[in-house]
Amino acid sequence: MKNHVLRPLWVAIAFVALILLVRYVIVPKDFGVQGESFTFNYYRASNVQEWKDFPVSYLGKDVCVECHEEKGTLLESSPHAIIQCENCHGPGKDHPETENPETMIIDRSRLQCLRCHADLHYTDTSRAEIPGIDPNEHNVDSECVECHDSHNPDLEDM
Ligand code: HEC
Ligand code: HEC
Ligand code: HEC
Ligand code: HEC
Repeated sequence: MKNHVLRPLWVAIAFVALILLVRYVIVPKDFGVQGESFTFNYYRASNVQEWKDFPVSYLGKDVCVECHEEKGTLLESSPHAIIQCENCHGPGKDHPETENPETMIIDRSRLQCLRCHADLHYTDTSRAEIPGIDPNEHNVDSECVECHDSHNPDLEDM
């Protein structure tokens, strides 16, 4: 074969060899050790443990009511029953284990409630699942929690 054919061939072979070498060096040793199938195999085996160790931020209502039973009972039979405590109080991670157990957020602002209750004029209010009020009309100068109980907003109990 002539040189002008051989030379690019060598370059191509060297290029492929380089890719294989780089792959050998950078692909972790526990990648794809679970068999041949590409569907369930293209991950590092150690990644499973890494996700198990990932600290969870939200604990869920069942954890909160272990200590705050009274609040749990109140919320449970109220129109707010489906809302998670942490939806309003923020993630419970590290609470109450930290030095200061009162780290949970208590947001009494109107904005806290308006996230869900601001009337959206473009929805069909007769079908809306969450009753909406007009923030510019409904008792403008007071915080909502001065009149409504966040853990039991039932209008009958006001
Ligand atoms: C192991 C028991 C325990 C668990 C579980 C727990 N708390 Fe607490 N929580 C406490 C203690 C103790 C305090 C501080 C004393 C107090 O004010 O009741 C506190 C305080 C709070 C406060 C502030 C009270 C205040 O008056 O400042 C809020 C809000 C709160 N917790 C919400 C939650 C939520 C939401 C969860 C679930 C993510 C939760 N707690 C889980 C024990 C617990
Ligand atoms: C809709 C939002 C919302 C939800 C859901 C909610 N809270 Fe609250 N929470 C508040 C607000 C607002 C306050 C402050 C109330 C006030 O000052 O009148 C508060 C106050 C508290 C306090 C301390 C003050 C008090 O009234 O004793 C604790 C403890 C607490 N919540 C725990 C919980 C737990 C536990 C859950 C779940 C079972 C929960 N909350 C669900 C909004 C909420
Ligand atoms: C995460 C969304 C959410 C947040 C935040 C929220 N609510 Fe609600 N609220 C609801 C839902 C859902 C209902 C029940 C709708 C139904 O089933 O009728 C409701 C119902 C109500 C009702 C009507 C009760 C009745 O008897 O008809 C009032 C009043 C109310 N909430 C006040 C508040 C106040 C005050 C706050 C702030 C502390 C607040 N809500 C925060 C979702 C929310
Ligand atoms: C001064 C007391 C007061 C304040 C402050 C207040 N409300 Fe009300 N709210 C009431 C009363 C009384 C009713 C029942 C009669 C009515 O519909 O006006 C009511 C009704 C509601 C209803 C039910 C509406 C419906 O169509 O069924 C919702 C939702 C509500 N309020 C949310 C809020 C939110 C959110 C805030 C804060 C942005 C707030 N309220 C502030 C007194 C108050």
